[in-house]
Amino acid sequence: MPAVTDASARIEALADRMTAAGDLTDQTWRPVLRAVPRHLFAPARAYALPGKADGPPGRPIDRDADPGDWQSAVYDDMAIVTQREDGTADPASDLGAPTCALSAPCVVLPFLHLLGARPGDRLLEIGTGTGWTAALLSVRIGQDHVTSLEIDPDLARTARANLAAAGYSPAVIEADGLHGRPGETFDRLHVTCGITTIPYAWIEQLRPGGVAVLPWQPAGWTGHKVRLTASGGTAVGTFHGPANFMTARSQRTGTTLWQPHHAGDADTTTTSIDPHDIAEHWGEQHVALTRIPGLVVTTWPDDDGSLSLHLAEAGHPGRSWAACDSQPDGKHIVTQYGNRRLWDELENAYRTWLSAGQPGQDHFRLLISPEGQRVVHDLPDKALPSVPRRRH
Ligand SMILES: C[S@@+](CC[C@H](N)C(=O)[O-])C[C@H]1O[C@@H](n2cnc3c(N)ncnc32)[C@H](O)[C@@H]1O
Repeated sequence: MPAVTDASARIEALADRMTAAGDLTDQTWRPVLRAVPRHLFAPARAYALPGKADGPPGRPIDRDADPGDWQSAVYDDMAIVTQREDGTADPASDLGAPTCALSAPCVVLPFLHLLGARPGDRLLEIGTGTGWTAALLSVRIGQDHVTSLEIDPDLARTARANLAAAGYSPAVIEADGLHGRPGETFDRLHVTCGITTIPYAWIEQLRPGGVAVLPWQPAGWTGHKVRLTASGGTAVGTFHGPANFMTARSQRTGTTLWQPHHAGDADTTTTSIDPHDIAEHWGEQHVALTRIPGLVVTTWPDDDGSLSLHLAEAGHPGRSWAACDSQPDGKHIVTQYGNRRLWDELENAYRTWLSAGQPGQDHFRLLISPEGQRVVHDLPDKALPSVPRRRH
């Protein structure tokens, strides 16, 4: 492997950019980043994706063909896709769903801040991936205290090799992380794959006062960054902005693609609600919208400044769908098809959220108990959209 001679300078520059962007708020992580050179966790051929919408363009990277570009991507705020379609597609192409990535630093560091792991904590990580976060946590709390579970044997092997090259050897175990480590107790749980239903086993394995951070994605796609604190058999979660990770392998709901089937039978209307407003406030109102079961919303900005929202039912591309396309004259075009009027549900939720004074995420909590998981709030009931029913 060609040496990255200026890795320290690149790490420092990355840390400076993250600090300026507000993603590196705890500077005690800076020496940890220095101790774990990120290029040791990136494969020779991969696909770099921007960590933020305004980041550099996504592109294939190849260390042998263009070492300069490879190094720039690895030390930029980019996710490096290392596996697609569970290893059956080329990770360096843009075809096939990403199934493993060296997550973007702007995503990883805020999670680690939230986790608040201290030296000596017993830590369980779910989703070893490349091993980078396991290495960062090994430096932070001591590698003998880190156990990382990876469902994919090939990825687990590569992660162990990456970790060894960087000089670390935390326990990397091939296992379905949704079971945790039965019989063991942890102070911290770090989850790096999207979770639709939080396994109760994790709560049982956290000591009272123990903390889990995870991307909670109840509809399978974009969800919430959640910090759970265990209290002996139950846990209470707080919300900390949006999160979008690849869903845990054993909880995938299928590829949810927006498919505008029966387009000729769809209803077309207009709305004064600008899709840009919904997209802009998404993080804040998002928790309220969790009450719309199984709604998946994706945003499609265009170069001319227009924006389309695509709405679908999670895991059921053959059911209801809707779209809202922004228009310069303010009469935004809505198209809907199916038993559920997904745009109407979203617009109703958005209007209710607006008239309630745009309550933020701190009004909501996620409760986990042996009976299941549910979102509770401290708002008057009328401040939230009523849970819609299916039309038959
Ligand atoms: C975003 S990547 C992890 C990034 C990683 N922390 C790093 O630093 O490279 C998500 C990982 O979770 C793994 N994964 C998915 N479902 C899993 C499960 N049920 N148990 C354990 N690992 C799982 C995937 O195979 C993938 O390697």
